[in-house]
Amino acid sequence: MAAALSVETAARGAKQPAVLEFLKSGPKKLLINGKFVPAKSGKTFESINPANEEVLALVAEGGKADVDEAVKAARKAFEEGKWARVGPHQRAKYLFKIAELIDQHADELAELESLDNGKALTQARAIDIPAAAETFRYYAGWCSKIYGETNPSDPSMFNYTLREPVGVCGQIIPWNFPLLMASWKLAPALACGNTAILKPAEQTSLTALRLGELIVEAGLPDGVVNIITGFGPGAGSAIAEHPDIDKVAFTGSGEVGRLILQASAGNLKKVSLELGGKSPNIIFPDAEMEAAVPNAMMGVFYNSGQVCCAGTRIFVQRDIYDKFVDQLTKYTEGMTMGDPLDPKTKMGPVVSKEQFDRVNGYLDIGKQEGARVTTGGELGNGKGYYVKPTIFVDVNNDMRIAREEIFGPVAAAIPFKDENDAVFQGNNTSYGLAAAVWTRDVSRAHKVARALKAGTVWINCYGMIDPISPFGGYKQSGFGRELGKYAIDLYTQVKTVFMKL
Ligand code: NAI
Ligand code: MG
Repeated sequence: MAAALSVETAARGAKQPAVLEFLKSGPKKLLINGKFVPAKSGKTFESINPANEEVLALVAEGGKADVDEAVKAARKAFEEGKWARVGPHQRAKYLFKIAELIDQHADELAELESLDNGKALTQARAIDIPAAAETFRYYAGWCSKIYGETNPSDPSMFNYTLREPVGVCGQIIPWNFPLLMASWKLAPALACGNTAILKPAEQTSLTALRLGELIVEAGLPDGVVNIITGFGPGAGSAIAEHPDIDKVAFTGSGEVGRLILQASAGNLKKVSLELGGKSPNIIFPDAEMEAAVPNAMMGVFYNSGQVCCAGTRIFVQRDIYDKFVDQLTKYTEGMTMGDPLDPKTKMGPVVSKEQFDRVNGYLDIGKQEGARVTTGGELGNGKGYYVKPTIFVDVNNDMRIAREEIFGPVAAAIPFKDENDAVFQGNNTSYGLAAAVWTRDVSRAHKVARALKAGTVWINCYGMIDPISPFGGYKQSGFGRELGKYAIDLYTQVKTVFMKL
């Protein structure tokens, strides 16, 4: 370890006493079988505050041996029926309790998230944390609504189906919405009666661990939720390969998604993947510009552009292209980038040195490809992984900045001719997570929504997500749908029962 760890320096500006207490309480541990324990190897790694590059906390570096322990605990909890055979109303109570605890600790969790990830505190407080609570609350309702069917088979038979939990679930999540992603994974898995091993991203382990404490406080039986912090190769790969894990749910890069799929072949795990995108945001000339411009801006720059469904390809009809990008540039220049804890901040740094370098690389690539920068195009000055919100114009859909997921505050504005051209270019990508269309023409709005190959389409809005509605990708954005009743399908399996009468 390089510099001595100083919470005061790394968390300067933090106001929540509970956050400082959590950070100062020593190296963070793994949650296995209801207890917080160090990694068997004794190893830890650093969690960095991306706003100042200081070490916020040391975190246990879980590995294969720790995953084995967690799987044993989760398997035992599952097979003994400690969770799956708890009555649905009781299970719901636990999930409601977790939601309540998240709400009670919302200020603390928001600040911890902001410190660890670099996202604007006001946004973490307004979006991430309440949405995490809402997700638990929504799935609490499902506990008592997971039905089988009676089937009209031969009259000599009584034939019905049971919907049963899958078993032990491995859940590997990214760093862009740490607590919210943990909730998207855990809440439906738990509602269906599964047990879980959650692996947070190594960049942002802290809110998941705090959630683990709240889950223990809520009184869930030991072993139902286990949290293994650590790196992808090591902790993540051990989950993906594990012969006694029944299902893996993953959100992250396509590259790792492919590795997970390969590793799952060993015991034929069920797999669901959510792998990001290059989502088109299509602006027709009859759009309400007062709404389209700021929403296109937030659609791409929200969370420093580190959003799987970010509207990174902004397609603008040729006749209004210059005017639109002009306005978009003006708005973007008015967006305050800076200290995530400052209430005025709309955009913080990117999450890590790795992302900072990666995004910086794409700024160069865009310039080399001949796209023109109207604003940004450079890094922030001084400490912290700040990248200025950048708009590339005169972009061609074949350029790398229009094809590859950058996952930073970089927009590509691309002109189109007419409706067909917009749909063609919008769909001309290997991804298919989300898309948006802006128009006042009702029939065009729905025609285009149908034609776009994406798991979510927004009309005259951007980024709307609700736990009641499915979320997931077409094409290489992955498969399986999270949220809504669709997550119940991901976390249950169906059994047919025939009885001779
Ligand atoms: P990543 O896909 O490597 O990491 C996501 C999660 O997978 C983390 O928990 C990580 O520890 C784990 N992981 C990494 N290697 C693994 C392995 N071999 N086996 C099992 N688990 C493994 O993403 P990374 O490297 O942080 O970001 C790279 C790019 O991925 C980003 O620039 C972005 O384009 C994309 N990404 C997409 C996200 C989305 O929401 N769809 C979220 C994060 C990244
Ligand atoms: Mg990676």
